[in-house]
Amino acid sequence: MAKTTEPRIAVAIMAAGRGTRLKSKYPKVLHEVGGKPLLAHVIAAATRIVPAQDVFAIIGHEAEMVREKVRQLGINFVLQSEQRGTGHALMVAQDALSPYDHVIVLSGDAPLITPQTIQRLRDFHLQKKAAMTLLSAELTNPTGYGRILRKGSQSDEVKAIVEEKSASPAQKKLREINSGFYAFAVRPLFAHIGKLKTDNAHREYYLTDMAGVLSKVRCRVVATKTGNPSEILGSNTRAEMMEIDQLVRMAKCQQLMTAGASIFYPQTCVIDADVVVGADTVIEPFVQLLGKTRIGSDCCIRSYSVISDSEIGDGVTVRPGSILDNARVASGAIIGPYSHLRPGSDIGEGAHVGNFVETKKVRLGKGSKANHLTYLGDAEIGAGVNVGAGTITCNYDGVHKHKTVIEDGVFVGSDSTLVAPLKIGKGAYVAAASCITDDVPEDALALGRARQTIKEGWAKSKRDILAGKKG
Ligand code: UD1
Ligand code: CA
Repeated sequence: MAKTTEPRIAVAIMAAGRGTRLKSKYPKVLHEVGGKPLLAHVIAAATRIVPAQDVFAIIGHEAEMVREKVRQLGINFVLQSEQRGTGHALMVAQDALSPYDHVIVLSGDAPLITPQTIQRLRDFHLQKKAAMTLLSAELTNPTGYGRILRKGSQSDEVKAIVEEKSASPAQKKLREINSGFYAFAVRPLFAHIGKLKTDNAHREYYLTDMAGVLSKVRCRVVATKTGNPSEILGSNTRAEMMEIDQLVRMAKCQQLMTAGASIFYPQTCVIDADVVVGADTVIEPFVQLLGKTRIGSDCCIRSYSVISDSEIGDGVTVRPGSILDNARVASGAIIGPYSHLRPGSDIGEGAHVGNFVETKKVRLGKGSKANHLTYLGDAEIGAGVNVGAGTITCNYDGVHKHKTVIEDGVFVGSDSTLVAPLKIGKGAYVAAASCITDDVPEDALALGRARQTIKEGWAKSKRDILAGKKG
């Protein structure tokens, strides 16, 4: 029995342009919205529709930088070393795309596109058996976009797309614009792409001209209008990019709230696309959650905290003004206010890290506390340890870093300096204001300071001298 074979579908993402209007030394598609490069957003949407091996990013301007940045997403790259327009971008991708039946073309600078819309574009294209399908949108202000010229007002079919710069005053009034997202049947696309010309304002090959080219040779060109015009927004200027950033971030907050998190004043919070937040967690105003941060449920992240690439368990409180970077915090811990957890900080269950405490490459065991004015670096600290106010691990001798080991149940008195390498045995005490340079055995008391002396009446006689009563 003959089996109908599924059409082979590729996605091409045009990402070779310089982005002149951004006035940037970085390529446009690497500029970030929602904490992620524009191109990475488009790739994320594309790979929900086809596998990464069928996605081709067409890169050119600063191609190596672009490739490096999104390489881990597993897609393919096509090099358009000279950027001679969106039509030219597809010309250079001919070899890569020829094995496919259809190609969906996306724009690397339009990051709001959703998988659902790509799917709708694909389905419409296949159903209409079109040579070219374009996604259009109705905009109140269509300025700057290409306009769609339909064969008739009720017709699906398109005669041509006219770019803003070549549009007549009457055409400029058309509010149906070209989104820059298309689906093509690969065979007619490459059979006729050679007919594109560069007789236009930019002296470029416009992919948009394929609508006119294909419709002239009686290939079917159709348009489908999106119900959600904000999805097609491109980021040609910094101002447009910031608008998109806000849309992405608000959408992210909405998604987290739908999943059960409370976010107060979400418009003040900066939450990156890949952040995960558990149910019943409360995020206060002016919080930033960045990178790959994951926060458990029942946490409270208080105002002015900035948390990057960190993992936080359940029921954790992060008090105001704390900075966490590549840190791990286990369930029930309390951080802050004003704690600075630097990379490699691993805070145990129920532990406390308090005011003006800085940690780096530290494991702080279950229930241990470092509540005030402390630096803990390169240290292995057991469970139930109390680190007194003002304690400092002296981990650096000017050349090398050394490790401090503090075993379970140790009590470190306030204002102690612990000169590494150093080990303080289980259950030991360090007297306040000690400078500890040698290992302390289990259950011992270590004193590392001068003995106190008393000089009776000294202060009074000093005062008397100063007042000129004596001498
Ligand atoms: C394009 C469309 C316009 C549409 C608008 C929607 C053309 C000629 N015009 O205009 O009808 O309304 O998108 O946002 O296509 N690129 C390459 N190689 C090149 C040139 C561009 O890869 O040689 C890439 C860019 O990096 C960008 C994308 O193609 O990601 C679109 O190019 P851009 O210059 O932004 O086109 P628009 O002027 O926005
Ligand atoms: Ca654009």
